Amino acid sequence: SLVTTAIWLDCVFGCVCHREVIDKVKERYSQPWKKQEDNYQKFRSQLNGKCNGFDKAIITQANTPVGKELRFNGEKKRILKVTPEIFSIFAKEHPFSNKTLNTCAVVGNGGILTNSSCGNIIDSAQFIIRCNLPPLGNGYEKHVGIKTDLVTANPSILVEKYGALNGRRRPFVEGLRTYGNSLLLLPAFSYGHNTPVSLRAVFTIEDFKSSIRPVFFNPEYLQNLSIFWRSQGLKEARLSTGIIMASLALELCANVNLYGFWPFSNHPHSHHALTNHYYDDRKPKTKFHTMPAEFDFLLQLHSQGVLRLHLGDC
Ligand code: CDP
Repeated sequence: SLVTTAIWLDCVFGCVCHREVIDKVKERYSQPWKKQEDNYQKFRSQLNGKCNGFDKAIITQANTPVGKELRFNGEKKRILKVTPEIFSIFAKEHPFSNKTLNTCAVVGNGGILTNSSCGNIIDSAQFIIRCNLPPLGNGYEKHVGIKTDLVTANPSILVEKYGALNGRRRPFVEGLRTYGNSLLLLPAFSYGHNTPVSLRAVFTIEDFKSSIRPVFFNPEYLQNLSIFWRSQGLKEARLSTGIIMASLALELCANVNLYGFWPFSNHPHSHHALTNHYYDDRKPKTKFHTMPAEFDFLLQLHSQGVLRLHLGDC
């Protein structure tokens, strides 16, 4: 099929070759998609039992009291004992609605979104999750939408785009405007070097009275999630932001739709070459995570009717 050829092109041109994915895409994406409630409930309760993202994904004053030792998930030997000062910037309670959301859109940053016209359908979801402060205006809106309820920010973005917030901070605050009053999710306690820059982000947001609401990933949740995925057979050093957010969405929403997840260099239908992101062509750090292996698992969930991957134009 066309999808098979797209992945073969990756192999031929020396990118990551995952032959096992090739046949699976062929088989699984060509079937009409239907939600399979039993499979969804089963997967969701596994995730909930092992990770409990609903209560634990985000650090709150309820799940992380003063004196608790936070163990950094990326640096096992590093521990931070919660001081009253740090505690005071934690969210008071977890920010998710107690009712299961109906439809969620998790938007990955893949170049497959370029010219996809998926903006309206993405924006029609009840809860929209985006990764790594992606650009939304400037003509991207039609293809990726404009609404955001939760956006992640890897500290490497803060370092590269905003000088680690060591100098002028206004450009950062202005850059946040497109995300309105969404949640800004920071992995402040994953690696030691993430903490100071994440705290500067929070203080900047407060000092400039930005309406975005900063919160922190709970390293315990991230650790449990990586154990969960390893137990499913996903062997990689680090989970990508996208699979983390898709996993969280499966706990929060009844219908999870993924857009912008396609870690291959040619379009699945029209075969044309794609950039890695819809807004630039920076290559992933394959040293750390292997998105094609994750994609294989997401495709499996798609064919089981647990979540829905969108690979075509809208
Ligand atoms: O933070 P990270 O480098 O993992 O991700 P990113 O490049 O900012 O993109 C966000 C997410 O979109 C990734 O974590 C992947 O899950 C997904 N993605 C994809 O599936 N295919 C691509 N070509 C690019 C990103």
